[in-house]
Amino acid sequence: MGRAFVYVILGGGVAAGYAALEFSNRGVSHGELCIISEESVAPYERPALSKGYLLPEGIELVLGTRVISADVRRKTLLTAAGETISYKILIVATGARALKLEEFGVNGSDAENVCYLRDLTDANRLVDVMHSCSGGNAVVIGGGYIGMECAASLVINKINVTMVFPEAQCMPRLFTPKIASFYEDYYKSKGVEFVKGTALSSFDMDADGKVVAVNLRDGKRLLVDMVVVGIGIRPNTSLFEGQLTLEKGGIKVNEKMQSSNSSVYAVGDVAAFPVKLFGETRRLEHVDSARKCARHAVAAIMEPEKSGEFDYVPFFYSRIFALSWQFYGDNVGEVVHFGDFSGNTFGAYWVNKGHLVGSFLEGGTKEEYAAIAMVTGLKPAIEDLAELESRGLSYAMAV
Ligand code: FDA
Ligand code: NAD
Repeated sequence: MGRAFVYVILGGGVAAGYAALEFSNRGVSHGELCIISEESVAPYERPALSKGYLLPEGIELVLGTRVISADVRRKTLLTAAGETISYKILIVATGARALKLEEFGVNGSDAENVCYLRDLTDANRLVDVMHSCSGGNAVVIGGGYIGMECAASLVINKINVTMVFPEAQCMPRLFTPKIASFYEDYYKSKGVEFVKGTALSSFDMDADGKVVAVNLRDGKRLLVDMVVVGIGIRPNTSLFEGQLTLEKGGIKVNEKMQSSNSSVYAVGDVAAFPVKLFGETRRLEHVDSARKCARHAVAAIMEPEKSGEFDYVPFFYSRIFALSWQFYGDNVGEVVHFGDFSGNTFGAYWVNKGHLVGSFLEGGTKEEYAAIAMVTGLKPAIEDLAELESRGLSYAMAV
């Protein structure tokens, strides 16, 4: 039993949705393109976990279907249902999976009041658990994006939140200590408590298998009604290990998003691609790069002679409570903070080897965000850090 397509997109997330849109805009014939996704719904915008599906008509959707093996020499995929699907060109958009507590030696992820958040099923479950313990206590494990955004949502839904993470500050992958301290103070003003520099050691369960308390390595015990875990992700590369070149935990691709096998492309969280601005291969875990890589890959597939260089400036953002920030570029080198950290608008520039390589701004206007995006992409030479500090946002606005 089997089916054959010209183009197969493996995965049904953000990158898959945007690749399909690009194929559709460029005109694929009915039956030429197939999406295979383990999820039972068509691709949707994951950040909002809204139900606005991305998909145009005329695409073969193979939903609720896990691919269990791939053979890139034969150009075939085998589904869990035993069907073989063959392709001429494959786009791998398998994204990533949430890391489980078990991978850090703690059991209990399956408890009914322990929540992860990666897809729509997880989101629906989290909302159900949250509604079942209104006014209760939640422990949020992890101080990254999921931890920060879920903590804010829980507070808005009238749940008392304690955040637990091993580092000395929230968002350690991106924030400077000064930036982190602003957000932590803001969260504290909303009632969030922080337990930093420690990790979970075990759960106490009741007779029904519900978590009732969280034990920490520093000896603290926190009573809980629910737990949210956001401790990072791992790209879903396992189908291709030993068949495609991997780098930085993802599938290594060139500037056309083409892997070490010329019939296989990779986009989104699973792809490690050359970021020209940094002169090196990076794997990014954000929607903007998923969307743009996906569109670029399809352009390179359908019009190889026309598709130009992929000149991408990494862009991350978040909105929490009444706050909103954007970041462009890379957070390496020396940091120059600017603006009013006790007010609404402040930010930072990162200067590496004499050039501005990264910009962060909280509370900016559309024009101000556009200005920091533009200046970061230009990578201007910076001779005087003190001058950059005193000019602050006006430096970006003037470029
Ligand atoms: P994505 O995870 O979206 O999709 C992967 C797809 O592949 C899934 O449909 C999965 O089921 C499928 N799949 C995997 N293996 C398979 C197999 N073997 N067989 C079949 N199907 C398989 N970023 C940002 O910049 N700003 C933001 O505000 C947010 N907010 C945000 C909120 C939440 C809750 C999450 C979880 C993530 C974000 N992100 C974000 C990150 C962003 O959503 C992420 O970078 C993109 O979803 C990546 O898109 P992909 O398509 O690569 O993976
Ligand atoms: P993350 O990498 O942002 O943060 C992981 C956090 O886990 C670390 O900051 C650390 O505090 C914590 N941690 C690590 N090991 C731990 C342990 N043993 N015990 C307790 N804490 C531990 O990952 P995430 O927050 O899980 O987010 C998952 C993915 O979703 C990421 O790819 C992220 O980029 C994406 N996402 C992005 C956004 C956004 O861009 N606005 C929003 C939500 C999710």
